[in-house]
Amino acid sequence: MKGLLLAGGHGTRLRPLTFSGNKHMLPIANEPMLFYALRDLAAIGVREVAIVLGPLREGIREAVGDGRSFGLRVSYLLQEEPRGIADAVRRAREFIGEEPCVVYLGDNLLESGAGPLVRRFERGGYAAVVGAAPVDDPRRYGVIELEGERIVSLAEKPAEPRSSLALVGVYVLDARIFPILDRLTPSARGELEITEALDGLLHSGAPVGVERIRGFWKDTGRPEDYLAANREVLARRPPSYFTLPSPPLPPGILRGPVRIGNGSSVDPTARIEGPTVLGAGVVVGPGSVIGPYCSIGDGARISGARLRESILMDRACVEGPVELRMSILGRDSQVESGPRPIGPISLIVGDAARLRGL
Ligand code: G1P
Repeated sequence: MKGLLLAGGHGTRLRPLTFSGNKHMLPIANEPMLFYALRDLAAIGVREVAIVLGPLREGIREAVGDGRSFGLRVSYLLQEEPRGIADAVRRAREFIGEEPCVVYLGDNLLESGAGPLVRRFERGGYAAVVGAAPVDDPRRYGVIELEGERIVSLAEKPAEPRSSLALVGVYVLDARIFPILDRLTPSARGELEITEALDGLLHSGAPVGVERIRGFWKDTGRPEDYLAANREVLARRPPSYFTLPSPPLPPGILRGPVRIGNGSSVDPTARIEGPTVLGAGVVVGPGSVIGPYCSIGDGARISGARLRESILMDRACVEGPVELRMSILGRDSQVESGPRPIGPISLIVGDAARLRGL
């Protein structure tokens, strides 16, 4: 089984989150989102992965390299224009060859991992296996219509969805998809749609299986989904993940599972509530209250503020009596409030942006 990982800019919807660089490198629990998919691929026994780099590809090669640290052999393919997921798969024809392949969208996070889809594929003699998960607004996704466990239709972002089951962004395919990909024409959003290809495969009479996804699944395209993914990942981290530097902090500061990186300092009047992770060299100043469900990047500084369910990227800084909830602060951003306490408020602050005198 091979792995194909789509990492950025495969589609026309370029930057739903306004941070520089590649969205797949945005941190979840202080680690690039893309690493979760790579680890999942390694865990299900995939050894060879091609990463399809889109127009926004900064930092990916540098972070992943040849994949050795993930136990993978990683190579790279380029997709210069955002022509869709199906176009990215078509470009990987030579890499995939005659082997089955897991196609993983790098912004998808699955608690169950891709294992259940792969196992169904291997049991069933399928040409493809897709994942289905219930969602509130199916119009934002590929939609799958089922009769029992038989797929009736697949449609991309239909105006009138025929079910509330979304197509998850992980697909197991074999080479039977390629002739269908060759016949695709661009959709209304100007992309070659994988959903249309799978529907074509189904209607050509090839066996397409479906696996109902258990546990949480997030397409992290919207800020609220990105924050939810961060929350779910932190909530599921095992106790062994939560480590503290020595010497130990005075009692009363930490409540629940908290991980703190080296060189961080926490004022004795601050409080940190888990699950929460602080990177290295973080400075938590007097009166700050952090958590639960916060991921605070390396070198971030918080003083006198309250943070809940938020992501602060590396070197972000919050100062003053402001209460932030469901907030995302980009790298090197600064939020300074005046002397008057404010909040709770939800902020999304881009990289290196400055907000003063709130
Ligand atoms: C893509 C697929 C869609 C699928 C979704 C899952 O959508 O086209 O069928 O439901 O990923 O993440 P996109 O993220 O390109 O809007």
